[in-house]
Amino acid sequence: MKNTIVVGAQWGDEGKGKLVDVLAEQSDLVVRFNGGGNAGHTVMHAGETYKFHYMPSGMLHNKVCILGTGVVINPKDLLEEIQSFTDSGHAPKLKISARAHVIFPHHQLIDEKGGGKIGTTGRGIGPTYSQKASRINLRILDIIADDAITRIKDALRDVKDMLLADEIFTEETFQQYCETVSAEYASYGNQFKPYVTDTEDLVRIATKAEEAVLFEGAQGTLLDLNYGTYPFVTSSSTLAAAAFVGGGAIPGVPIRILGITKAYTTRVGEGPFPTELGGDAATNLREAGHEYGATTGRPRRVGHLDLYALRYAIRISGIQELAMTKIDTLALVNGVKACIGYKIDGKKIDYFPADAPTLELVEPIYTDIPDIADLSKDEWKTYQGKSKADLPESIKSYIKFIEEFVEIPITILSHGPERNETIVF
Ligand code: GDP
Ligand code: IMO
Ligand code: MG
Repeated sequence: MKNTIVVGAQWGDEGKGKLVDVLAEQSDLVVRFNGGGNAGHTVMHAGETYKFHYMPSGMLHNKVCILGTGVVINPKDLLEEIQSFTDSGHAPKLKISARAHVIFPHHQLIDEKGGGKIGTTGRGIGPTYSQKASRINLRILDIIADDAITRIKDALRDVKDMLLADEIFTEETFQQYCETVSAEYASYGNQFKPYVTDTEDLVRIATKAEEAVLFEGAQGTLLDLNYGTYPFVTSSSTLAAAAFVGGGAIPGVPIRILGITKAYTTRVGEGPFPTELGGDAATNLREAGHEYGATTGRPRRVGHLDLYALRYAIRISGIQELAMTKIDTLALVNGVKACIGYKIDGKKIDYFPADAPTLELVEPIYTDIPDIADLSKDEWKTYQGKSKADLPESIKSYIKFIEEFVEIPITILSHGPERNETIVF
């Protein structure tokens, strides 16, 4: 199978960036298909740490990197990211969809004002996608047009009443904003021109030529707008299916769907988290795993591995195999368990609650995990190229237990943040 979709199988930050970097070596194109600067994908290679907010994580392999139609783009942030990679000696082969939507400063201001309840990243994601759905937002093709300034001013006029009513601007500050932002964004448009194209057509041509296309999801399945823990979700679809809508994956062409999961669970922002840990146990796991957000630096909430939620995510996203990350972190802490079901009022339930307040109430059913072998980097190296059956007993039995519960295989095990700390079975 030439084409692969990588998606998060939890609430984001599962290690998608690391795995995309690993898989990109065998790929020709790497395509982001959803989200925007809310994503923070970390790649560590040869002692350097790279954080990708927009740029697909295949960039270090010098692959063609695409931002598909489903992505929302803050041009200023993207240009800064391009510049920082150029400064560090890389030459990003970037292509941007003309149809991708543009994030403006007023989207960010609305998000900062109203996003607290959800604990958003404050990057303007929700307001941009909602104005896209309302058919009043601008796309990349608008800001690169010859009459970009007029298009931007016209679009701002359409949202003026709303911005004034929400006290984002006064009449006077709105006029100033219109003048400065239209000139600023038209200038970004000029700088973008060389990158902008019909990216879905590039994917189609590559697929026809039997090149390998790697689709990189942002966020995680449980943050999906339709199937996640609504309203504590992001504003795009994070499922593998979104690679078809937002990235140009072609229905009917065989495709591998790889879900990424940590060996435990984390979440950033508000919303239900049935297996969340508190107190010292949480602090120990957070510190062992350096669990701080790559985009906002917020401490991540941490908890036991929620296999019940993971199995739900696998089913709704059609995930066929798993890569499990951070087994090395799990080995550093004791007492993490696996959740194999939920109870409400003492009764086991057989569904994943759609209602957030109900999910807040569930009582997880746990099973103990044997202490995971804490291997040194050199010891881990000896397992390269070996099969699952050769792994230390504690790790082998943990993997087997998970595979039996979620009914799909773990085909990749990640035991450190570096590219080469990965075992492919
Ligand atoms: P993403 O958003 O899914 O790409 O994940 P993030 O980059 O936000 O967060 C994952 C973090 O875990 C990053 O700091 C990675 O460098 C790190 N990481 C990924 N895989 C492993 C692993 O197997 N072990 C350890 N210790 N860290 C890992
Ligand atoms: P990556 O791609 C983890 C969370 C936010 C918040 C909710 C809505 O790095 O895995 P938004 O700004 O999208 O409107 O915020 O979603 N969130 C993420 N959590 N990883 C991410 O991306 C996230 N992107 C958004 O914390 O709870
Ligand atoms: Mg992240």
